[in-house]
Amino acid sequence: MKKLVGIVLLSVLSFTMIFAQSGQVEIFSWWTGGGEEEALLATIQDFNELYPNIQVINATVAGGAGTNAKAVLKTRMLGGNPPDTFQVHAGWELTDTYVLPGLMEPLTNYLKSWGVYDKFPEGLIDIVSYQGEVYSIPLTVHRSNVVFYNKKLFNEIGLTKEPETWNEFINALEKAKAAGYTPLAMGDKNKWEAGQIAENLMVAEFGAVNYNKLFNGELSFNDKRLDNALEKMVQLMNYVNVDHAALEWQDASRLLYEDKAVFNLMGDWAEGYFKTLGWIPGEDFGWFELPGTQAVFVLISDTFGLPKNAPNRENALILLEYLASTRAQSLFNPIKGSIPARMDADPGDDPYLIQTAEDFKTLIISPSIVHGSAAPEAFVTSFNDAINNLVTTKNVKQAKQMILWAAEDVNLLTD
Ligand code: GAL
Repeated sequence: MKKLVGIVLLSVLSFTMIFAQSGQVEIFSWWTGGGEEEALLATIQDFNELYPNIQVINATVAGGAGTNAKAVLKTRMLGGNPPDTFQVHAGWELTDTYVLPGLMEPLTNYLKSWGVYDKFPEGLIDIVSYQGEVYSIPLTVHRSNVVFYNKKLFNEIGLTKEPETWNEFINALEKAKAAGYTPLAMGDKNKWEAGQIAENLMVAEFGAVNYNKLFNGELSFNDKRLDNALEKMVQLMNYVNVDHAALEWQDASRLLYEDKAVFNLMGDWAEGYFKTLGWIPGEDFGWFELPGTQAVFVLISDTFGLPKNAPNRENALILLEYLASTRAQSLFNPIKGSIPARMDADPGDDPYLIQTAEDFKTLIISPSIVHGSAAPEAFVTSFNDAINNLVTTKNVKQAKQMILWAAEDVNLLTD
C-alpha cells in the first residue's frame, strides 16, 4: 500500500514538474532536407509530448553539412546572440571553433547527474571533450564511407556481387555507363560532397591507421598515397552526372530513386532520405563500403552543446537531457539513417542500421575531414576548394599542392 502511495505521489510530482516547465527553447541546425527534417520534427514532437508547455523554436538554415548554417551560427555566437542549443560536429568543429574561444559551457556534471556519462562510447566522449570537460552531447553516429546502389538497376546491368576491390568497382561503373545510366550520382553544389568522396579515397589509400596519423601530426601529407587518392578521384569523374555542380546531395541520391543512376557514395543520411522516399533498405537499395575501406568506419557525429548566455538556459538543459535519453536517441536516429550515439539505445530494426551498429563496435574509426572532425575549419575549407578545383581541372599536382599548403597552415606535417 505504502509503495502504491509512493508511486502515485511520485507520478503526480513529476507530472507537476513537467507541466511547470514553460517558455521557449531554440534549437539550431541545418536539418531541413529529406530524411533530416523528418527526424528532427518527429523528435521535437515527442519532446513536446513530454513538455507540452515548452515551445520549441526550430531554427534551421538549409544547406547540407551546414554549408550556410555554420556561417550564420558563427555570426550569432560571436555577436552575443546564441541559440539555446545547436548542431555541431564532434571534434575540431566543436572544440576549435567554439570551446577554445570560451563560448561554451561544460556539461560533464550534467551528464553525470543525468546518469548518462558512461552510456556513450569513450572515444566519442573524448572528441566532444576539452581539457577533461565534456562540451556537447552526441546524438548521432553517421558513417560516410558507404556506397548505396539501386538494386533493380544493379541486377538489370548484370551485376551479381557487390564490388570489393577498386577494379571491381570501376568495372561495375563501366557496366552502368554502357547501359546508359549515370554510374555514380554526385551533387557537389556545396563543395563538401566532392570533398567527402576524396577523403574516403584517402582512407582507402592510406588505410585507417595512417590516415589518422596524418591528423595526429605523425605522418606527412607529402605522400604518394595522397597522389593516388587524387588520381582515383579524377578517374571517378568519368562516371558522374554532367550536372553534378548544380545538384545538392539529396538531388544526387534521388537520381537512384528515379532509376537514373546506379551508385551514390554518400554519408548514411542518404539511407534516411531513401527511407523517407518510401524505399526499403535491402530491397530497393543496397550498400557496401567503398572498396579499400571495409575495415574502417569513417565517423561523423552530430552533437548539441550549451552556449554561454543561452537565453533559455533552463529549458536548454531540459532539451539536452532529453536528447541524451535513449527515448530521443532511439526515435531520431533510425529516421535519420544514423545509429544512436548512446550504446544502450535501440538502433532500429532495418538491416542497414543493424549492420552499422555492429560495424561501429568492431571497426577502426577515422574522423571525417569535411564534416569537421579531423582538422580545423581552415583546413576543411581549403581541402574542399582543392578538391573542387581538381574536379574542374583534373590537375592532381595542383590539388596536392593546395592540400599541402592547407596542411602547413594548420601545422600538420608536409615534409
Ligand atoms: C552532415 C551532418 C549530417 C547530415 C549531413 C548532410 O554534416 O552531420 O547529420 O545532416 O551533413 O546534411
